[in-house]
Amino acid sequence: MNKTIAVCPGSFDPITMGHLDIISRSSKMFDKVIVVVMSNVYKNGSSFTVEQRKKMIEKTVGELGNVEVDSYEGLLADYAALKGAGVIVKGLRAMSDFEYEFQMALANKKLNPNLETVFLTTSAENMYLSSSMVKQIASMGGDISDFVPKAIYSDITEKFSDKNQEE
Ligand code: PNS
Repeated sequence: MNKTIAVCPGSFDPITMGHLDIISRSSKMFDKVIVVVMSNVYKNGSSFTVEQRKKMIEKTVGELGNVEVDSYEGLLADYAALKGAGVIVKGLRAMSDFEYEFQMALANKKLNPNLETVFLTTSAENMYLSSSMVKQIASMGGDISDFVPKAIYSDITEKFSDKNQEE
């Protein structure tokens, strides 16, 4: 029987509890899940390098046996074809996410007709959570412990305390 491989793409700058929730729920739905760090052309620059983002995800998903972490520079539709993945999983927080995600799903389907996009609704406690919110709170010395996985808490706080000292 063919195994269903799903990709969970994102900028993950950095991974949050919201991302982890979607990844761990996906890992129960599919035979294999590949979390892939990609660039979002609509976001200006990133705070963490691709390698740092990958490492933080690896630290976080270690206990999920069927989850791999990767990065890719090109199109998601091409990456999915390369990996034999038939499904893209994305989390939807609110209606405000919907239009953009819907557009991407249609574009990806056009680029790779074998690809289905599946949306998982974010858990209620993560509705408002985003990587940029985490970074803003961390950079102002606020407590991010409820928002990011324990394993990467210090990676983020250290990065932003270094930044505060530079300024
Ligand atoms: O976490 P994000 O920033 O919402 O993730 C968006 C991401 C990285 C998944 C999206 O920008 C993407 O798929 N980038 C790869 C390039 C690509 O395939 N773009 C066309 C999709 S329409």
